[in-house]
Amino acid sequence: MKNQIEQLKKEKNAIILAHYYAPEEVQEVADFVGDSFYLAKIAKQSTADIIVFCGVKFMGESAKILNPDKKVLMPDLTADCPMAHMVKDGIIEEMRQKYDDLAVVCYINSTAYLKCKSDVCVTSSNAVKIVKALPNKNIFFIPDKNLGSFVAKQVPEKNIILNDGCCPIHAKIEAEQVLIELKNHPDAKVLTHPECDASVIELSDYVGSTADIIAYAKNSNPKEFIICTEDGVDYKLITDNREKCFYYPNPRPCCTDMKLNTLEKLLSVLKNEDKEVTVDPKVCKDALKPLERMLELAK
Ligand code: 13P
Ligand code: SF4
Repeated sequence: MKNQIEQLKKEKNAIILAHYYAPEEVQEVADFVGDSFYLAKIAKQSTADIIVFCGVKFMGESAKILNPDKKVLMPDLTADCPMAHMVKDGIIEEMRQKYDDLAVVCYINSTAYLKCKSDVCVTSSNAVKIVKALPNKNIFFIPDKNLGSFVAKQVPEKNIILNDGCCPIHAKIEAEQVLIELKNHPDAKVLTHPECDASVIELSDYVGSTADIIAYAKNSNPKEFIICTEDGVDYKLITDNREKCFYYPNPRPCCTDMKLNTLEKLLSVLKNEDKEVTVDPKVCKDALKPLERMLELAK
């Protein structure tokens, strides 16, 4: 299958982008593997005719919005991020009425429709920087309350209004589970994704995006780490650090939507070009603005 994928990629001038949560055999054949921000930048710069995005729907949609004339395919169009939908109808309008200077800051884990209603997008790797750079005092942060509250602690000069949404996978990681791992591995450093609850973040030595966690583990001296994020990062962590040990809260966090990106489906979509990401052209145009503003402010 891997040979056929390589061949089809060349024939069709296609590139494969994969998130760190995709299955390891998919990460192995991908041209670029990264966190949401890195993959959005790669999608924007790409000169390929076809982009195959092995991630969840908001990632494929963002690639399409940034490249409306390109064919963007996904191995499984049903792979979705439940948090991307967790904003109540009418709440953005309600907040805009309440605060004159409101900026709606939209985590990239959101539907294209929500992006259209927002002033700027952010990812876990640039949210603090971008919120700091905004001229607005009042910020409505959607959809993730956990990333929003992490940003609020780093940027106390702003009034950050939280929305009631979160990642069901990261929300299941409990402080108690991390404490058990720490008891078993007292020298381990705790590396955490900001989608986790504040009680887990408090126990952490480092908080960052998937790519930041991977870079931290590689560039620091400790030999043991407790990883508080989805276990797809394990592939890169182990490949980069053969002499280090990585532990996970029990049960090991797993995003079933990300795991829908199998090698079989990747080969099939490259062959048949049948699972194309489509975004309404008007939505594409309006959602492009907050995404481009993110790329600009994050520079
Ligand atoms: P990253 O941008 O840190 O890779 O996060 C994406 C995501 O979906 C985390 O659950
Ligand atoms: Fe969405 Fe959570 Fe899966 Fe990330 S891990 S894609 S936030 S459901």
